[in-house]
Amino acid sequence: MRKGDLPAVMTIERTAYSHPWTASIMEDCLHMRNYACWVGLINGKIAGYGILSIAAGECHLLNLCVHPDQQGGGLGRILLRHLLALARRRGADTAFLEVRSSNQIARKLYESEGFCEIGTRRGYYLHPQGREDAIVMARTLMQTLEFEEIPS
Ligand SMILES: CC(C)(COP(=O)(O)OP(=O)(O)OC[C@H]1O[C@@H](n2cnc3c(N)ncnc32)[C@H](O)[C@@H]1OP(=O)(O)O)[C@@H](O)C(=O)NCCC(=O)NCCS
Repeated sequence: MRKGDLPAVMTIERTAYSHPWTASIMEDCLHMRNYACWVGLINGKIAGYGILSIAAGECHLLNLCVHPDQQGGGLGRILLRHLLALARRRGADTAFLEVRSSNQIARKLYESEGFCEIGTRRGYYLHPQGREDAIVMARTLMQTLEFEEIPS
């Protein structure tokens, strides 16, 4: 993801989430040395993106999003695998993420990629009717998955 990608990324962010990140949060991510920010293209057009932080042998998935018109086509899984492969190559042995308890589609994707529930953060997310719990999930990157060779 580059600065010039931000308008397309923010259009997806605002379309896909009830409580989207601001453009300045997204731009800040691009300046963080230990963040991996990638876009995924479909037919040459940005259709999704993922953001991951990597530090102290751990990585945290901070955002994973696919345009609603393109969801269900496999891009989310590709982006997730790509980010985890990068993290592994940069020395992370464990991956963490938080997901809204109501987000069954994302939870199913993460479970199918080896993530397990390790806890709940009560009222972590804003919700139109108040607050919503976050499910905290984790997986090891050690016993892995044959990650494909990718550019770092
Ligand atoms: C979650 C998200 C990133 C998944 O990306 P995607 O490209 O739609 O997902 P994929 O096509 O790679 O599918 C991966 C798995 O997700 C699940 N899934 C995807 N779309 C689904 C649907 N419409 N109904 C049920 N399950 C679905 C399935 O388990 C699927 O695996 P399968 O194809 O083997 O059945 C995407 O739906 C999204 O951007 N959602 C809005 C933003 C969001 O909630 N992000 C996650 C924040 S934690």
